[in-house]
Amino acid sequence: MKALVLSGGKGTRLRPITHTMAKQLVPVANEPILGYVFQHLEDAGIKEVGVIVAPETQEDVRAFLKEGKRWKLKVTYILQDQPLGLAHAVKTAKPFLGDSPFVMYLGDNLLAEGIKGYRERFLEEKLDAFLFLKEVDNPSSFGVAVLDKKGRITKLIEKPKNPPSNLALVGIYFFSPRIHEAIDRIKPSARGELEITDAIQELMNMKGQVKGHKLEGWWLDTGKKDDFLAANTIVLDDYVKRNVCGQCDAQSQIIGRVSLGTGVKVVNSTIRGPVVIGEEAEIIDSFIGPYTTIGPHTRVFHSVVEHSVILNHCLIENIPRLEDSLIGRESRVILGQKQSKALRLLIGDNGVVEV
Ligand code: G1P
Repeated sequence: MKALVLSGGKGTRLRPITHTMAKQLVPVANEPILGYVFQHLEDAGIKEVGVIVAPETQEDVRAFLKEGKRWKLKVTYILQDQPLGLAHAVKTAKPFLGDSPFVMYLGDNLLAEGIKGYRERFLEEKLDAFLFLKEVDNPSSFGVAVLDKKGRITKLIEKPKNPPSNLALVGIYFFSPRIHEAIDRIKPSARGELEITDAIQELMNMKGQVKGHKLEGWWLDTGKKDDFLAANTIVLDDYVKRNVCGQCDAQSQIIGRVSLGTGVKVVNSTIRGPVVIGEEAEIIDSFIGPYTTIGPHTRVFHSVVEHSVILNHCLIENIPRLEDSLIGRESRVILGQKQSKALRLLIGDNGVVEV
């Protein structure tokens, strides 16, 4: 069985971070989401992965996957010129997929338990599609499934205005090669995309065997700032182990599950986990509260930071309290020493400042 990982798209819902970064590479607990996806594929015994990339971000995606070389997966890059939909991505990947069954994994989806074990079920039951479903509060933002009394899927609809159920389609799908035939039969949706949801519905119309499984554990579509902070919170809760290896002075306190990268310097500060701090970061005269990720080489001076994600090479200085924030690479958030009411800002497109 092969895997197809989708790592294209524009990431409009996570702007401005995604103006300069592929959404699949935005780090959760200092690990790009794509890293978790690859780990899950390796754990599931997959050996060959096709990665769909977009012209704008392919270089960074390739660099990340090459640089780590942590996974024993053979990677083939497949360029999708335009974001014309998930089913269009499968179509573009046809030469790579051939007649192989495959698992398609959207590179911005994160799952608590991974996909180990489900591959066997899909193959043993000789299914044409095996889907994951999850109850959500906002089903109109997703593909939605309707089940009958026996739990069989009767209908699938992409982002319905009046959702007939609260069961969202998770962005991980197992397919037999019959999906290609179904894709050839569908037309672009109102948003101009070839929808995978429509293709699976078509597969059902073709009497293909389609089954769904309700997920118990958490699932995160890291689309927007709040979802992203929620992802960070859950991942920190689940994955972080105490690992205090940097330099901490006697005036500092490191409490609970805190993971410090190599070369981290902590001076006269308190860090209360769960917190992850990337390599070579400096925390001086500060308090870092629960559910915070500080990127590598970031410096926090005389500040309080809680429930936030600060990416690499940032400077946070003299900020009395920073919370619920997502701060992009190489940003500086500084409270000037001079007594002035003026704000001096340099904010990229789509920036948000709440004062
Ligand atoms: C896509 C699918 C949708 C699915 C979602 C999961 O939506 O079209 O059916 O529920 O992924 O993340 P998109 O992220 O393209 O809006």
